Amino acid sequence: MTSPSKNPIDRYSRTAVILHWWIAAFIVGNLALGFVMIRIVPLAMRPILMPVHAWIGLTVLLLTVARIGWRLSHSAPPTPYSYKTWERGLARAVHALFYILMLALPITGYLILSANPPNPAWRLMFWGIIHVPYFEPLQAMEPVSQKIVHGRFVFVHLIGAFTILITLILHIAGVVKHQLLDGDDILARMMLKKRAD
Ligand code: HEM
Ligand code: HEM
Repeated sequence: MTSPSKNPIDRYSRTAVILHWWIAAFIVGNLALGFVMIRIVPLAMRPILMPVHAWIGLTVLLLTVARIGWRLSHSAPPTPYSYKTWERGLARAVHALFYILMLALPITGYLILSANPPNPAWRLMFWGIIHVPYFEPLQAMEPVSQKIVHGRFVFVHLIGAFTILITLILHIAGVVKHQLLDGDDILARMMLKKRAD
């Protein structure tokens, strides 16, 4: 039986493909930057790296909102018939988890920065241009509770970062399995179509 993923290939639309790869690149980059910034380089580097980390993360948030908007208004190409029921379920769960984390990571990051005493030297400027105000109720908290809340957001952000890393490993394992073992050209579904000459 021929699978619908082969000849002709059911692809994601151009918009979905472009958003997928930009978001993926920014998330992988920000995972590396986050761990390097917190675990490897000296504390003195943090004021330089943190704004870049925050801008990339907020860009992921904006692109994810666009991606979800696209996803709700368009249907994804049908899953190849060759997928077993458990594979369909797992792929769906991995994709859903991605969407949750793609929102949760930037939001908790923003909340970590908001749960600090107000400091004009730490204004959040999106890509150095647009001023993003911090979440006022967190800024206005009394110091002891603010510190506790800050620590909780840091914890959730860290767990989120590890979870998205594991999700990414599962996602790549799934793609490799279908591409190399099952012979479904799954990667082509998430690639731009070559123009006919
Ligand atoms: C953190 C990085 C990544 C994220 C957040 C991500 C997220 C997603 C999501 C949410 C979908 C489902 C799209 C939908 O139907 O709404 C998807 C599909 C896909 N992704 Fe990724 N992805 C990432 C990295 C990668 C990488 C590295 C590869 C290549 C090895 C890849 C290959 C694919 C392919 C081929 C599909 C289509 C699967 C299908 O047709 O069912 N992704 N990705
Ligand atoms: C794709 C989105 C994001 C990813 C993948 C990500 C990932 C990470 C990682 C891996 C760390 C290091 C955790 C550790 O080793 O303890 C980290 C720390 C941090 N991130 Fe993010 N992050 C994202 C978005 C954001 C955003 C949008 C902000 C702020 C607006 C932010 C603010 C922070 C802060 C303040 C820390 C330091 C926490 C601490 O004090 O230990 N992140 N992030």
